[in-house]
Amino acid sequence: MSTILEIADLKALAKRRVPKLFFDYADSGSYTESTYRANESDFSKIKLRQRVLVDMSGRSLETTMIGEKVSMPVALAPTGLTGMQHADGEMLAAQAAEEFGVPFTLSTMSICSIEDVASATKKPFWFQLYVMRDRDFVMNLIDRAKAAKCSALVLTADLQILGQRHKDLRNGLSAPPRLTPKHLYQMATRPRWCWNMLQTSRRTFRNIHGHAKGVTDLASLNAWTSEQFDPQLSWKDVEWIRERWGGKLIIKGILDAEDAKLAAQTGADAIVVSNHGGRQLDGAHSSISMLPRIVDAVGDKIEIHLDSGIRSGQDVLKAMALGAKGTFIGRPFLYGLGAMGKPGVTKALEIIRKEMDTTMALCGKRRIEEIDHRILAENPY
Ligand code: FNR
Repeated sequence: MSTILEIADLKALAKRRVPKLFFDYADSGSYTESTYRANESDFSKIKLRQRVLVDMSGRSLETTMIGEKVSMPVALAPTGLTGMQHADGEMLAAQAAEEFGVPFTLSTMSICSIEDVASATKKPFWFQLYVMRDRDFVMNLIDRAKAAKCSALVLTADLQILGQRHKDLRNGLSAPPRLTPKHLYQMATRPRWCWNMLQTSRRTFRNIHGHAKGVTDLASLNAWTSEQFDPQLSWKDVEWIRERWGGKLIIKGILDAEDAKLAAQTGADAIVVSNHGGRQLDGAHSSISMLPRIVDAVGDKIEIHLDSGIRSGQDVLKAMALGAKGTFIGRPFLYGLGAMGKPGVTKALEIIRKEMDTTMALCGKRRIEEIDHRILAENPY
């Protein structure tokens, strides 16, 4: 643990411990991965403004996201197949987030079900919705999330059709995974991962299995999943989803100011400026570079969160300085989970918290509410 100092250390450890096809699944972006790379590199182009001899005592990172108190403005993003990084991964990550005081978002494509995660946690978590062609299934999911007392529904808007990830195709990854001798070899060379899976994994896509029409076994689940994302989904659908849900709604996957305006008109509580971690439209701008114009367009109408490319506490502060009220992390917590299970997720959050705290102090600020564009340097060099 003492040699793990930054998110990159967790990534390196996860790479050693998680079978290649599952590590690559988390680590990949779509097509040439140019947007995936830009998400990270554009953060480093933004420079912070050092201030000195400012009283730095009594610092706090506490704030709110959609009105919920958080110990720092960093939620765990919804990630499908999280349980492939570590057995029971969704439940472990949810517990780590709960203990840390930040929101956890469960993906529709998770391995543990809504009910599994609800039974493993005490406080409400957030549920991410993919709208499938099977609308009865979607309504059933919304009702299950309500019954589990989820406190927000995160509607993902940027995946009506799947961006191709070359690594997954080359590795032969499918959902659910169909294992070949090559995969079995990769797993055999990762004994810790196999041991974890053997110990605890009893779950297979329980959000979907048995809840969607005709999905009774792995083969039917595979066929159902591959044809389910709905290319006809449109802004009109947000209305019935919002009505059925009746609670806090976050629209995730906004990268354009015009879309941000449409999202604000739906009456949603927040948007997430996101390009799905560079996994959808390759060639799109990084999330952080699009944030200022989205803030200009709707910053006074709707709460704005950001994800894609955050790898440090400095990145979180840069997003907040440009107008985000909160952020999400995907891969940083997945690397932690793959590296060490629940303590690894906690470690990822601790790393980001410590970086945020130190950076905020060196910028001469003590509280999250004081963070704005004035912590950024005007000149790039
Ligand atoms: C995702 N993401 C995602 N988003 C979503 O709405 N539903 C999902 O099921 C998934 N699945 C998923 C799997 C994996 C392995 C990754 C890496 C990402 C996107 C995710 O919520 C988030 O937008 C990005 O992960 C943010 O980028 P970073 O933090 O990973 O750079």
